[in-house]
Amino acid sequence: RRTYAEVSPETQRVVKRRTWGFLKWTWRLTYLSAIGGTIYIGWGIYQGRTGWGAVSLLKKLDTENYNVIVVSPRNYFLFTPLLPSCTTGTIEHRSIMEPIRSFLRHKKAAVKYYEAECTKIDYENKMIYINDESEIKGSTSATEVPFDMLVVGVGAENATFGIPGVREHGCFLKEVPDAQKIRKRIMDCVETATFKDQSPEEVKRLLHMVVVGGGPTGVEFAGELQDFFENDLRKWIPEISNNFHVTLVEALPNVLPMFSKNLIEYTEQTFKEETIDIRTKTMVKRVEEKYIEAEYTDASGKKVLEKIPYGLLVWATGNALKPVVKDLMSQIPAQKDSRRGLFVNEYLVVKGTENIWAVGDCAIANYAPTAQVASQEGAFLARLFNQMAKTDSIETELAELSNVQEKAASKDLRDEAFGKIKDLQKRLRRVKNIGPFEYSHQGSLAYIGSEKAVADISWLTGNLATGGQLTYFFWRSAYLSMCFSTRNRILVIMDWAKTQVFGRDVSRE
Ligand code: FAD
Ligand code: NAI
Repeated sequence: RRTYAEVSPETQRVVKRRTWGFLKWTWRLTYLSAIGGTIYIGWGIYQGRTGWGAVSLLKKLDTENYNVIVVSPRNYFLFTPLLPSCTTGTIEHRSIMEPIRSFLRHKKAAVKYYEAECTKIDYENKMIYINDESEIKGSTSATEVPFDMLVVGVGAENATFGIPGVREHGCFLKEVPDAQKIRKRIMDCVETATFKDQSPEEVKRLLHMVVVGGGPTGVEFAGELQDFFENDLRKWIPEISNNFHVTLVEALPNVLPMFSKNLIEYTEQTFKEETIDIRTKTMVKRVEEKYIEAEYTDASGKKVLEKIPYGLLVWATGNALKPVVKDLMSQIPAQKDSRRGLFVNEYLVVKGTENIWAVGDCAIANYAPTAQVASQEGAFLARLFNQMAKTDSIETELAELSNVQEKAASKDLRDEAFGKIKDLQKRLRRVKNIGPFEYSHQGSLAYIGSEKAVADISWLTGNLATGGQLTYFFWRSAYLSMCFSTRNRILVIMDWAKTQVFGRDVSRE
């Protein structure tokens, strides 16, 4: 028998290729079965955590007690944590959407839904003004809806800090059309860069993917994009290999400021290995069609303005107020000092009002604007409203019984009514005894590319900070179990499996 070193180079190549192929397939099969296994773990930990803000409220609200109307221009719930995966086709966007109709139809009493945008909330007159922008009509239909109680859960819009050119030339990453636009733009850059007779500078520019904002959105997107390049683009379009490049620009000294220090270092190290360039302490000041102007401080302490050419620019610098929220704040004197959202009290009532509540990214309750906070706030409001309805019905019953007691003809009847009143009063005290909203932080998770994730998890009384491939399995299982429905979960698993076996689709549409 000859050893590996003794066989011809050609045979060595064949042996290497076959061994590598065998290992790859073993890895893929192990990986797919691991997904199956980890779903169960995730379920145990994250049971029942679905829907942000308004959706979480609607899911738990006992609609028999109220006449509920839902107004939103988006007729589906979007599972945002997996949205960065849609920009590269790791997951198809429909897999993380759940039609609002599908869960409204399961409610005990009918809930009305209007696909429309609320343009104004008239606090004094208890009225909201809504616009239906449906293309089918060709023109906007505007109307108004009166309310007794109002819950505002409109989220936030993308912050640009008034930097010129961002809206015109940058791509945001908040909604499904944003992810679709980015996916198309990546392929547009790649195909245009390989077009006949492009200058080397133009090829370099087109293949330079710039992400502004080193928060979790920017980091997760950069990781997904580098995966797309390493696993698929490089294979299908090898001529872009030397020029495709991802740069992450962040104004602060580090990325992921909300994570533990060791996880920040781990992320930055992983990005270095993935050849993603991180430009910290670099503030973008202006955006032009083909380049950004960014300011940084050089070694001598001098401020330098640098032009960075780009093909794709993804802008992920956090949240800003929606105009409808800004307008509502201007009507309420108690809100005049608020800049980031509606001030709410510990029962999520908008300060300065009695009948308006706010949940999620548009409310300021001293918590980060995350899905975790929004869904807990929504669930709290559902509990509060259900209790309020019970209180009303017990109070009505009590009033009736007092009447009966007063008019009772015999002592026995009076005693019987008295006993019932006592029971009801006890129930009323229990029902009224609902404490204020308390947020329970379960931890933060983020995908950082090359099948690695970071997690800061609240663990008993402490905190567990972990990063790597195991954390990546945890990330997947946690997000799978948090998906809105079983249908979503199955679609997401199928998308992951499809990507693993066939790779991502590089067609442009
Ligand atoms: P949204 O979920 O934004 O919902 C707002 C709703 O209001 C939408 O249906 C919208 O159509 C509707 N609406 C908007 N304007 C109007 C109007 N004028 N009239 C009527 N309706 C209106 N958080 C986490 O905790 N973990 C994560 O992993 C995570 N990943 C994320 C990834 C991405 C890419 C993004 C963008 C965010 C992520 N977040 C994550 C943050 C999380 O998505 C938000 O905090 C959460 O969506 C806030 O919920 P919300 O109910 O306030 O608003
Ligand atoms: P973010 O607010 O977390 O981060 C934005 C970053 O952009 C900041 O670090 C800021 O310094 C930087 N920045 C702002 N202007 C800049 C400029 N001109 N030039 C360079 N850098 C600039 O925003 P993000 O990532 O969009 O997240 C929004 C919210 O959603 C956060 O609360 C976040 O926690 C949550 N989220 C959570 C995720 C998770 O838990 N995995 C994933 C995505 C979002």
